[in-house]
Amino acid sequence: MPVRKPLVAGNWKMNGSSSSAKILLDGILTQAKSFQSADVALFPPSVYLQQVQAALSGSAISWGTQNLSQFKHGAYTGEISAPMLNDFGCKYVLIGHSERRCLYAEIGLDQLVLDYIIAEKYSMASQEGIIPIICIGESPEEHAQGKTEEVIARLLDIVIEQNGVSALSQAVLAYEPVWAIGTGKSATPEWAQDVHSFMRERIRKHDPVTADKIQILYGGSVKGDNAAPLFSMPDIDGGLIGGASLDADEFVKICQAASFNL
Ligand code: PGA
Repeated sequence: MPVRKPLVAGNWKMNGSSSSAKILLDGILTQAKSFQSADVALFPPSVYLQQVQAALSGSAISWGTQNLSQFKHGAYTGEISAPMLNDFGCKYVLIGHSERRCLYAEIGLDQLVLDYIIAEKYSMASQEGIIPIICIGESPEEHAQGKTEEVIARLLDIVIEQNGVSALSQAVLAYEPVWAIGTGKSATPEWAQDVHSFMRERIRKHDPVTADKIQILYGGSVKGDNAAPLFSMPDIDGGLIGGASLDADEFVKICQAASFNL
């Protein structure tokens, strides 16, 4: 069984202020020695990127943004490009988060079109040397209809078809069931393990080496007290954390759970 280093990613979403970010960063940094065996990355709102970069430079903690444009530059008001992320030392970027998907869906794009846009964003991040963390997960309706694997396979296949399976060797996947995000109802470790294993096997059909190497994170109501059983599953390589990443002690507990499970 290959050993993959766990990764814990803290997605702050649209929360905080410059002063609360400072308290959070200080609280995490002072305890960083306690989770040395895990990779940790923070995803602040982009306006705080410079502050986060200044605080984390020289530490083992990485950072990135919650989205990026599929275009390199131009008239795309409000968007942020991959070269801009490089200007601020971003190692990772989140792509395809369901909250972004819902916003796009409001303007009428169907899920298949969105999957292609996510594949383009993935390609843009990869070209610029930024590691994309691709979020994939079924909605509550799709979950009720038993369509989890169908939804996941659709996006995975498009990403592979558009970029080649080798591109996945520089990527991270995150299984994020939409019904578990921010609801306090995490998937059970067994359910998440089954889905993660399905994702890994889908990749294995193209390339067994990449399948063994790729980190697959779980996201959806991970807290300090349910992280360890999730991370102890063989195909769960860490977590994408929303709400619990806003509290330093709670977030550190999750990082420690990942670190001890290595
Ligand atoms: P949550 O969010 O931990 O608050 O459920 C997870 C996510 O949206 O990435």
